[in-house]
Amino acid sequence: MTNHQPTPDTVLQLINGYWATGIVGAAAGHAVFTHLENGADTPGLLAARAKISERGAGTLLDGLVSVGLVELREGRYRNTAEASAYLVEGKPACLSGFARLKLTHMGGLAALPEVVRTGGPVTDPTTEVADNPHWELVVPAIAAQSVPAATLAAQVLGLPEAGEVSILDVGGGSGIYSALWLEANPRARSTQLDWEPINNIARRLLEERGLADRFTCVDGDFHTTDFGEGLYDVALYSHIAHQESPEQNTEVFTRLRRALKPGGALVVCDYVVDDDRSGPAFPLLFASEMLLKSNQGGTWRRTEYRDWLLKAGFGDVSFHSAPPATLAVAR
Ligand SMILES: C[S@@+](CC[C@H](N)C(=O)[O-])C[C@H]1O[C@@H](n2cnc3c(N)ncnc32)[C@H](O)[C@@H]1O
Repeated sequence: MTNHQPTPDTVLQLINGYWATGIVGAAAGHAVFTHLENGADTPGLLAARAKISERGAGTLLDGLVSVGLVELREGRYRNTAEASAYLVEGKPACLSGFARLKLTHMGGLAALPEVVRTGGPVTDPTTEVADNPHWELVVPAIAAQSVPAATLAAQVLGLPEAGEVSILDVGGGSGIYSALWLEANPRARSTQLDWEPINNIARRLLEERGLADRFTCVDGDFHTTDFGEGLYDVALYSHIAHQESPEQNTEVFTRLRRALKPGGALVVCDYVVDDDRSGPAFPLLFASEMLLKSNQGGTWRRTEYRDWLLKAGFGDVSFHSAPPATLAVAR
């Protein structure tokens, strides 16, 4: 029988969890994953390609091996499959920009003890400020995160074969969903509702991809902007529900139901927790981000989403996993 004595290893790794944010953010900042992908597989080669010190390159590689993003075999380093898919510049789902951005957010966590005590943000809640410049930095950095979920949602909706469809994306941000869905269906048209500076970012993305002629923006607050009636085949609400209260989500879903044509579908994408709040790990941790940044947001359970959608008048709700997010599709 083995006597399983606890060691402080895990606790110490968690206490120093910001080391991982630092290593991944710094490696992304020097395009380390891209250089590794292109064959710079020793500290010396990496240092030369990335124009960083050899000591720094070696330290980053040690850290990346430690966090499981890089493998070392016979003295050569290489990206793991995850690093290769999600941290190499130029790949469609590349999260390097997000890794660089999160490095700059680390200091904000020092406010968490006070935020936990008071039950809400100690400064202006990020999510409730009109035209908040915060979004101009966040939105391009998180665009790649939505690629797997948007791709799955297109499959679930049968979008490529759906013919002429009209889409409404509420809080569309970078415009990544519109870009991917208009590419998937050359007869689809999309309208994005967001703050004006953010819509400008989305317009640029759609222009770059040659899709601007099928993309329209409405500038404004989705709490007060009329969505219209019976206009859309598909409505989308991605990574918004977590910043809103249950009542606000139900209210928006009710107006979106009205904005859909008969038989239309609402897609909600978010970090959804299991009904007993025992997992998944990412959405459980993400709740702290909403405590820091919103007055009423949180990570909501499946049963809550189903409840709000049924109250809003939808008849059928299905859930689809796109880790770490979940899609709820309501008709
Ligand atoms: C977390 S981002 C999600 C972006 C995009 N839907 C996605 O999944 O990649 C939240 C977006 O909602 C927008 N937003 C937040 N509150 C809003 C409001 N009250 N009215 C309009 N847009 C809002 C922000 O500007 C931002 O673009």
